[in-house]
Amino acid sequence: MVPVMKKSSKNRLTPGQQSLFPGESLFDRIARAVCRAGTLPRKELYETWEMARRVRRQFRGGRILDLACGHGLLAHVMLLLDRSSETALAVDPHIPPSAEKLSKSLTETWPGLENRITYLRMSIQEVEILPGDLVVSAHACGPLTDLVLSRAVESRARVAVMPCCHDLNLSSTGALDGWMEKTLAVDVVRAVRLRSRGYRIMTKKIPETITPKNRLLMGEYEADEE
Ligand SMILES: C[S@@+](CC[C@H](N)C(=O)[O-])C[C@H]1O[C@@H](n2cnc3c(N)ncnc32)[C@H](O)[C@@H]1O
Repeated sequence: MVPVMKKSSKNRLTPGQQSLFPGESLFDRIARAVCRAGTLPRKELYETWEMARRVRRQFRGGRILDLACGHGLLAHVMLLLDRSSETALAVDPHIPPSAEKLSKSLTETWPGLENRITYLRMSIQEVEILPGDLVVSAHACGPLTDLVLSRAVESRARVAVMPCCHDLNLSSTGALDGWMEKTLAVDVVRAVRLRSRGYRIMTKKIPETITPKNRLLMGEYEADEE
């Protein structure tokens, strides 16, 4: 019997696991490059892929800003899914040393990525965001997601976040928690707030079998504030 691969596994993908991804699909090729780097948990590969493809169904082009990027896989996948985005910035004050290894493995597989992704060791507060940018952020913990949204809104840039680690002391439930689960209330407030700033919003989920922190909020500025 073929063993079922647990997509939510936190085990690190290693070069020996390339055989789990034998196909020629873009996903399998990315997965093998991630395995060769030997730096990322399996869960992160699937989270990133599922988020990126949903975002790309809504938003094409633009400079990519992967905020709270960690290893920066999302920045790479966003470029691979849409060649009309030329460059990406991967921003995080604590970029792990192994991020370079991951980027090298992906760039060796797709030489066209060379010099198009820049890692910036800085905080979300410091990065300049332009109106044409596409801001993405996977699992920016707690209020960091609120910061990503407000920074994107300042520049009326398109934005996509997948929140995690909701902090009920720092992010508002809007008193909706009498009707719904508390972390859902926080994300509903975020969505409604984004819409009140003139954004058209979209709400999606990635599969719960990968992560329970699977809500994806996307928005695009469309009108002047009310
Ligand atoms: C849960 S990790 C998510 C990493 C990656 N996006 C992912 O999906 O795996 C949260 C990241 O936020 C980063 N971070 C914390 N404070 C930050 C800030 N002020 N600006 C940017 N990133 C920050 C941390 O260093 C960490 O890498």
